[in-house]
Amino acid sequence: MRIVFLGPPGAGKGTQAKLIVKDYHIRQLSTGDLLRENLNRGTELGVKAQAYMVGGNLVPDSVILSMVGEEFQKPELSAGYILDGFPRTYPQADGLDQLLKEQNQSLDHVLVLNVPDSELIRRLTARRSCSECGHIYNLVFNPPKLDGVCDHDGSPLIHRSDDTEETVVNRLKVYQNQTKPLVDHYKPQGLIRNIDGTGDVQEIYQRILTALK
Ligand code: AP5
Repeated sequence: MRIVFLGPPGAGKGTQAKLIVKDYHIRQLSTGDLLRENLNRGTELGVKAQAYMVGGNLVPDSVILSMVGEEFQKPELSAGYILDGFPRTYPQADGLDQLLKEQNQSLDHVLVLNVPDSELIRRLTARRSCSECGHIYNLVFNPPKLDGVCDHDGSPLIHRSDDTEETVVNRLKVYQNQTKPLVDHYKPQGLIRNIDGTGDVQEIYQRILTALK
């Protein structure tokens, strides 16, 4: 199964992708996670990406496409994947089409997770994630048992620097202007599955399972 996951920041792509990965035994490829890993390791790519990410703007297409191109060479993706946060622009969608062609592959679904902006801002400003395993929490909707500590491995939780209200508002604008139009790229191929992303995490997951059948 090969899936593209579209949706505004905070829609729950990361949360839902982790459930899909478990049930379908496929890989999650999150460009945001890859960029943050590079940033933490202080790689050249991470240094290039940092200023864009802190302001909530998109990292240049050339940087993203070469990073994803490298990931596509890895055998771990051969059993299928969910692309979380990629593509985000028309040149990235064209780049993905090219990568798929080279590998003789095609997409099965493009999931579009829809959530109103007011809810997205509430979710993101209260998000915390584990610095080790990446588990995602929310101080309002899904808090950890112990303040600031991951339930699973006891590591400290982090607050992403791009989860401030000001940056979130810019990220939402960027999504509307540059990423949402990609629905028109995939519509003619009959791949779009619109999902209501409001309500309980499990309830949304059931909607996704129905769409993937
Ligand atoms: P990225 O890391 O991809 O962030 P994003 O797309 O903005 O998405 P988020 O991770 O913020 O949200 P999510 O939808 O995964 O929600 P989550 O499940 O965590 O990108 C970050 C930056 O990297 C970009 O701004 C850009 O600079 C750069 N970048 C990345 N990819 C790029 C690309 N392809 N091209 C160029 N630049 C790129 O949930 C959010 C919160 O809500 C959590 O607290 C969660 O617990 C909670 N929650 C989830 N579901 C529910 C629910 N049903 N009810 C209540 N709360 C919920």
